[in-house]
Amino acid sequence: MEPAGHTDVAVVGGGIIGLALAWRAAQRGLGVVVVDPAPGGGAAQVAAGMLAPVTELRYGEEALLALGVASNERYAAFAAELEEATGLPTGYRACGTLAVALDSDDREELRELHAFHQRLGLASHWLTGREARRLEPMLAPGVRGGLHVTDDHQVDGRRLAAALVEACERQGVELRRAGAVELLAEGGRARGVRLDDGTGLTADAVVLAAGPHSHRLPGLPAGVLPAIRPVKGQILRLRIPEPYRPFLSRNVRAVVRGQHLYLVPREDGELVIGATSEEQGYDTTVTAGGVYELLRDAHELVPGITELPLVETSAGLRPGSPDNAPLIGRTALPGLFAATGHYRNGVLLTPVTADLLAQELATGVTPDLAKPFSPTRFTTEVC
Ligand code: GLY
Repeated sequence: MEPAGHTDVAVVGGGIIGLALAWRAAQRGLGVVVVDPAPGGGAAQVAAGMLAPVTELRYGEEALLALGVASNERYAAFAAELEEATGLPTGYRACGTLAVALDSDDREELRELHAFHQRLGLASHWLTGREARRLEPMLAPGVRGGLHVTDDHQVDGRRLAAALVEACERQGVELRRAGAVELLAEGGRARGVRLDDGTGLTADAVVLAAGPHSHRLPGLPAGVLPAIRPVKGQILRLRIPEPYRPFLSRNVRAVVRGQHLYLVPREDGELVIGATSEEQGYDTTVTAGGVYELLRDAHELVPGITELPLVETSAGLRPGSPDNAPLIGRTALPGLFAATGHYRNGVLLTPVTADLLAQELATGVTPDLAKPFSPTRFTTEVC
């Protein structure tokens, strides 16, 4: 194996989480190499980019809520800093979200969610069906009520990824366009990675940020990381022609036949409709059934979508940890860190994950906010 040099931090995976933490770590003066055959790829190329810690809240996930809210509060400044540093747009849009109910069962569920929001002191306002339609006139006449959540916004994952690639390059992060094929571990600690171009990169710290592939890196000792399961999401992109705009003014979501459905209208006229949730391995095939269900459900919610051009269908993989919360920080193997398992919240949690991990890498101290998300909560005996 030819040597490929040494760095302070080697980040395996150049999706938005790996890039953002590389950018933040480089800003703190660390030498950083991101290892990825195609930096800027990954789930952000597919995701709708909804920043929805409040409307995606589930019972029992209060620690995750705190992390999501912290990240959401950082987003405007994060996006502005990134745009300033690169001259590129991120598509951040502080538009709020309307979650609506299509029948009386949905309405009861939404009322319970509203009560939960109120107990937690979250900004969430109950609307009648008529009030919801006044906010979004394209909603179906049958909408029975809704929650207006003024702090759940959106960003464009593709633009964000492109801006992060540029920001990393300008900050001196080396983007090594190669695959990592083995974790190099010796003397009871991680020492670097071997690359598929035949070279090896040694590093003081290795960060696994490869989404649902993170735990599959050969050389990773058993028990250090749990399996990160891929959860497929199929998604549609429509275009809103000028005369129809704004069409929708904010994110609109609902639970239709037990499936979470959302419509995310971008300022540039793109309308993203997502997403299926399928646990069937590493398959990213777009299926007729997936597209049909999304269109059928979205049509129930906003009948006018059938007039719009359908311009793209795609599928990506959410990285799901065993408890659906992310793994952020040092692992049980000295020198090895993780930033993975963000499941439905990868885009939302990018700024806070980057800040927390860069802080830990630079200072050696685990920030309090990161403690509930320590990768060691899953550690079994390391061999
Ligand atoms: N956060 C939206 C999704 O995972 O589909």
